[in-house]
Amino acid sequence: MKNSVHLVKKDFEAYKEFSGLTRIFHWIRAFGIFGLMFTGFYIAYPFLQAETTSMPVHFLQAYIRSWHLFLGFALIGVSIFRLYLFIFDRGSHPERISFSACLSPKIWIDQIKVYLFLGKHPHIKGAYNPLQFITYFALAVLVLIISLTGVVLYYNVYHNGLGSLLQTSFKWFEVMCGGLANIRLIHHIATWGFVLFIPVHIYMVVWNSLRYPNGGADAMISGIRYKKDLKI
Ligand code: HEM
Repeated sequence: MKNSVHLVKKDFEAYKEFSGLTRIFHWIRAFGIFGLMFTGFYIAYPFLQAETTSMPVHFLQAYIRSWHLFLGFALIGVSIFRLYLFIFDRGSHPERISFSACLSPKIWIDQIKVYLFLGKHPHIKGAYNPLQFITYFALAVLVLIISLTGVVLYYNVYHNGLGSLLQTSFKWFEVMCGGLANIRLIHHIATWGFVLFIPVHIYMVVWNSLRYPNGGADAMISGIRYKKDLKI
C-alpha cells in the first residue's frame, strides 16, 4: 500500500535579528566571563604554585590576577556599550520590542507550555520570548553587581589614579554592602550565578535549535533568523 504524500512547501523568510556589534559583544563577553570565572576561582583558591626559586621571577599568581583585572575592565566597557546599543541602536529594535510580550500573561503561559512540551510556540514579536527577556535582564543585573563589587575590590588595592577616581565614585556601594568583607563574599557568590546560568543557557539554545528550524544558535553568528511562511 502506498502512503499518500502531502506536498508541503515551507518557505522561510530571512531577517536580521542581531547587529554585527551585538554579536561581537556577545562572544567577547562569553569568552571574557569564562576567563573571569577561571581566574577568579584561582584567586579565591590558588591551586597552582610556580616552582620556588631563589630569584623572584615566577609570578604565576600575579599574572593570573592581572588577567582577571584586564578581563574585568573589558567586561565593564563592553557591557556599557552593549547597554547603549540596546537602548539607542536601530539594529537592536527586535530586542527592544520583545519587552511587550512580557506584559502578556497569555504569552507567558503559552511559552511555559512550550518548554513543558504541552503546546505550540506563541507568535512573538521581536528577538526574545518573555522568559528569555527576564533571564537576560537578570543576567544584566548580575553583571552590574559583579562589576560594582569588582571595582570596589580593585580600588581597595590601587589607591591612586583610576583607583582613587573609582573610590570617590563607588565608596557608597561598599558602605551600603556593609564593608569590604561582604563585597568579597558577594563577588564570589555572584560568580556562582554565572556557573548556574551558562549550562542552562547553552541547553536552552541547543533545545531551541533542534526543535525549531528558524536558525537557532546560528543567529548569534550570522545575525540572521528565519520566519516561517507556510505555503501549501
Ligand atoms: C563575570 C565576571 C567576574 C567573575 C566571575 C569574577 C570572579 C571573581 C572571583 C571568584 C574572585 C575571588 C573572590 C574571593 O577571594 O573569593 C574575584 C576576585 C576579584 N575580582 Fe572578580 N570576577 C568578575 C568580574 C570582575 C570585575 C568586572 C572586576 C573589576 C575590575 C573584578 C575585580 C576583582 C578583584 C580586584 C578581585 C580581588 C583580587 C584579589 O583579591 O587580589 N572582577 N573575582
